[in-house]
Amino acid sequence: MTIKDIFHYDINRKIDGVVKVDQIQELAIGQEVREYVITKELKKHFITFFNHYNEAFSNPTADMGVWISGFFGSGKSHFLKMLSYILENKVVDGQKTVEYFREKFEDDPATFMLIDNATRNETETILFNIDIESSIKKDKTAVLRVFAKMFYNHLGFFGDNLKVALLEQYIEREGKTEEFRKAFEAKKGKPWVEQRKAFAFNGQAVVPALMETLGLSEEDAQAWFRDKNAVDFSIAQLVEDIKEYISSKPKNFRLLFMIDEVGQYVGTDTDMLLNLQSIVEKLGSECQGKVWVVCTGQEALDKIIKLRTDEFSRIQARFKTMLSLSSSSVDEVIQKRILIKKSEVIPELEALYDKKSAEIRSLFSFKYDENQAMMDIKGYTGTNDFVKNYPFVPYQFILMQKVYTEIRRHGNAGKNLSNGERSMISGFQETVQKIQNDDEFSLIPFYRFYDTLHSSLDSSIRLVVERCQKAADAGDGIEQYDVKVLTNVYIKIYIKRGE
Ligand SMILES: Nc1ncnc2c1ncn2[C@@H]1O[C@H](COP(=O)(O)OP(=O)(O)OP(=O)(O)O)[C@@H](O)[C@H]1O
Ligand SMILES: [Mg+2]
Repeated sequence: MTIKDIFHYDINRKIDGVVKVDQIQELAIGQEVREYVITKELKKHFITFFNHYNEAFSNPTADMGVWISGFFGSGKSHFLKMLSYILENKVVDGQKTVEYFREKFEDDPATFMLIDNATRNETETILFNIDIESSIKKDKTAVLRVFAKMFYNHLGFFGDNLKVALLEQYIEREGKTEEFRKAFEAKKGKPWVEQRKAFAFNGQAVVPALMETLGLSEEDAQAWFRDKNAVDFSIAQLVEDIKEYISSKPKNFRLLFMIDEVGQYVGTDTDMLLNLQSIVEKLGSECQGKVWVVCTGQEALDKIIKLRTDEFSRIQARFKTMLSLSSSSVDEVIQKRILIKKSEVIPELEALYDKKSAEIRSLFSFKYDENQAMMDIKGYTGTNDFVKNYPFVPYQFILMQKVYTEIRRHGNAGKNLSNGERSMISGFQETVQKIQNDDEFSLIPFYRFYDTLHSSLDSSIRLVVERCQKAADAGDGIEQYDVKVLTNVYIKIYIKRGE
């Protein structure tokens, strides 16, 4: 039996290292929903979120801000996307999302009921990555503009250009959308929806269409068309429009803005944070829990916000529900999504551990010095732990977490790493793939992680390792084994003693 045969799921199936909320192909979503693991920590977050969310149906509330935090690759985007799919109860591969979750919460019907109840009402979610959707110009009102863009897009207007969106909204309110579009197409010869993004170049068709449908004088239509300041936009106006929209819907209708990467986007920019805070505050007080805002960020709010305490507490008050994802959740995901074994293999692994446990225990005993053991850097706690983690060793999860964090902190590769396709889960998957054809049970040594990391490592480190490899290949006084030792040391180069 080869290593690849011991796993319950195909170890070579493609797993995206990071989840993109704007990726909506059926194939990707199908996998994301089916393979979503409810870890112990996530279960708590589901309970907190849905308790709070459901409560708002009977007790209207202004506390509708949710902040999901966690280090990079901890599953924030995946969590956000799942919440969005559950709340809208979208059909994925012919089955409603909530049915997939019924199975996942098989052992906990009470929590499932919470989720199920939340999906009973008509719900729309506006799910997006703020970094992708916002304009390049990041100024004081950047957050407001992206909220507005996404909201008007949601209504079918052209949110990318607020001047156009507000015009379309006005025409719609006048009940003249059809008429306007026809008039435009007659002049231009092409449909409005196709042409509106090149609005500024279409004056010759827009102006007469406006005159015709809205009864404007040519002078007024021209003046409006040329006016660069025609969009005098405010939070109050946006909230007003959102309110109008929800009031056209059934009583228990819910609208959610679900925004990925807000933390990285606003960063430590006080103006943008205040802009976000004001929007959430206004939506909360005006819409009373009918509109929710769910954001993600790599840092908890208090880490981002280095404002004066009173400003901080105001922002924090807007995001009453804080859900933080930790590394233990990632470990559990790797164990259950990648490393889970076929049931017939388990007795074999158990027997193996029982036979070798004394040896293994002495192999993995980490100490600072004679009597100070490092409590969390360790080997297996017992047979079950072995079966769960094999062919990895528990200390590797903790160490890899530190390696990723440090790589991000140092050098330019850090940013790359967060935008790239890599994360703990893909790192572990790639590493186990490397030994998949071995036909005897073996453990993965730490240097094996080098291959998944090396593109993110600083080039100075890569050079040393490559030089050493060359010397070993040429037999210049270095053995192959030495390369492994060096690699092992160099992956951990940024981790300080005691961290
Ligand atoms: N509960 C889970 N079940 C299954 N897979 C998960 C779970 N949580 C995270 N993953 C997987 O872990 C990887 C990283 O998750 P995700 O992209 O959501 O992290 P993130 O916190 O948004 O990272 P970043 O900070 O880089 O945006 C993805 O491959 C994702 O599918
Ligand atoms: Mg993400």
